[in-house]
Amino acid sequence: MRNFLVTAALLGMNALMLQAQELTLRLDKAETEVSPMLYGLMTEEINYSYEGGLYTQLVANPSFADMFNPRGGRRGGRRDQNQPRFTVRPERWQLSDTVKVRVRQNRQEGINEANPTSLIVNYEQAGLALVSEGYWGFPIRKSTTFKGGIYVKNPVARGDNAAAPLRSLTIALKSANGSTTYAETKVSGFTNNWKKFDLELTTSAAQADTKDARLFIIADQAGSIELARVTLFAPSYKNRKNGLRVDLMEMMAEMRPKFVRFPGGNYLEGNNFANRFDWKRTIGNPDERPGHQSPWGYRSTDGLGLLEFCQWAEDTGGEPVVGVFAGYVLGGDHLDGDYIKPFIQDALDEIEYIMGDASTKWGAVRARDGHPEPFPLHYVEIGNEDFFDRSGSYPNRFKMFYEAIKARYPQLQIISTVGYDALKSKAIPNPVVDVIDEHYYRNAFDMYRNAFQYDRYDRKGPKIFCGEWATREGSPTTNMNAALGDAAWMTCMERNSDICIMSCYAPLFVNVEPGGMQWASDLIGYDVLNAYGSPSYWAQVMFSKYLGDRIVPVEAANLPKQKLDRNDEANAVFYTATTDAKTGKTYLKLVNAVGDAQKLSIKLDGVKKVKSKAKKIELKSPRPEDTNSIDNPRNIIPRESTQKVGKQFPITLAPYSITVLVLE
Ligand code: AHR
Repeated sequence: MRNFLVTAALLGMNALMLQAQELTLRLDKAETEVSPMLYGLMTEEINYSYEGGLYTQLVANPSFADMFNPRGGRRGGRRDQNQPRFTVRPERWQLSDTVKVRVRQNRQEGINEANPTSLIVNYEQAGLALVSEGYWGFPIRKSTTFKGGIYVKNPVARGDNAAAPLRSLTIALKSANGSTTYAETKVSGFTNNWKKFDLELTTSAAQADTKDARLFIIADQAGSIELARVTLFAPSYKNRKNGLRVDLMEMMAEMRPKFVRFPGGNYLEGNNFANRFDWKRTIGNPDERPGHQSPWGYRSTDGLGLLEFCQWAEDTGGEPVVGVFAGYVLGGDHLDGDYIKPFIQDALDEIEYIMGDASTKWGAVRARDGHPEPFPLHYVEIGNEDFFDRSGSYPNRFKMFYEAIKARYPQLQIISTVGYDALKSKAIPNPVVDVIDEHYYRNAFDMYRNAFQYDRYDRKGPKIFCGEWATREGSPTTNMNAALGDAAWMTCMERNSDICIMSCYAPLFVNVEPGGMQWASDLIGYDVLNAYGSPSYWAQVMFSKYLGDRIVPVEAANLPKQKLDRNDEANAVFYTATTDAKTGKTYLKLVNAVGDAQKLSIKLDGVKKVKSKAKKIELKSPRPEDTNSIDNPRNIIPRESTQKVGKQFPITLAPYSITVLVLE
């Protein structure tokens, strides 16, 4: 009897083993269109994304608006142990001698309304300096020209600055200890009125790369001087004036984004009404933009404003997706009814600034700002995460914005930030929601659990914009485990891109210097000099680079499972396939989320011939916690090889791997 049972069990196991783990690609049924907007970018001022990140202006606190508080400043709330308690200085600025250089913030004689503050500096002798720390240094490279400006005037003589006005200043990029000069220039000819002096600092052809750099404003004589708005710009992508950082733009261009969602995120709402993203204060001459406090704990100069967002989209090959401020702020306050009408007008003006031709009021302002051509705009989002608004005011606010925007621009698709049911339950029969923005921050297990979520969505309901999503594993940037979770989630979005028409990961950026991060697990990390992509970044490059225009239905049989926590399980292998009607190429994406290699059989149905070799692109690492970092930026990157294929072929997926096959 016992022998019989053992034999029966073995036979059963064999039968199981014989059941091939198989994926059948129904190429004859590839009819549904892949959304042309599927992969995009999401951005906001968080983790020093623009200031100290993408924006090329390098001087922090350029208008001396924030003074360092020795009893516990904004930066981490800790007293700077290197400075005596009584030293007064602007944040992110140092004095070369804390006794012989004295500074005082002047709030009465700024250069304009946007920059009401200036700094009176008394130098007791020649050679002393006021020193900008930048955002953790400056990016020094060979043969590089930094351009900028400094406003200077003689201070009104008062007790503490009765010293003779300075006749000239030396402006220099030097090592932090001042011993090495990388580049310098002089400014002179100061009067009793503000004058802007252009700066141009060029490094030598022999200069080695370093971030050990500070901007020194050095007295050529003893005396006093008043300074305002000091700026220094690194070279920018496509040489745009007031432009964006080259390496980061190149990395984003490689992601082939179809859109950039801006300005947030929480950055759209702000903590209070005064600090919402008030787009009209972010355009025009950067010297006349007042800036505002980001909800992420530091000030934005708004040098990267509405026009720069649109140009960012344009320069990386996409279009803007703008979130308009909708009357709710993070502090929990909201405005409604008639009080919201000025914000609706602001939104209409903003849309006109982006897409109106130069004959319209705000299109003409955009043309004045240097971009006569309208930007393409198809999607407008009303607010951000308004499910946090406990007052229940969103449905009504949404309706007012929706109707006003549709009346003027019926062609625009309007995105809601709360689900359809939430809108419906407020008994607002109209308007009909075009698109719903869903946000998912999950761990890898939750990504696996939900990797078939959109397969189950009602095709008759509104479209989905997955406007923020990430597998939050790893810090400051994500690790291989996160990339696996991300890839599993992307198979879901891609397979269902008839309904999930747009998606973008968040947050995009993090400055990896101490104090640079407010939100762990980000896509791209950098310091002032270098940048790197996390494994999640590379997964996204692979998914958006290898994408067809038709979804290939895939039938899966006997795919292996993995145990998750809490005794439940999910697939160990995830898949999606698309084909390109023009080139005939088919892109099969496979994710092996577990530590064992997986053997699969792939069948191609509905094709006559297949080239015998396929390009194979693989992202893998032996341990899920492996990652990339600023010191080891290319530890995990996609590698190319070839794979023998046919109308039916076996493939072995490496442990913890993401694979793309290009079948022709
Ligand atoms: O991406 C970080 C934050 O997460 C966004 O600002 C907000 O929209 C979400 O809660």
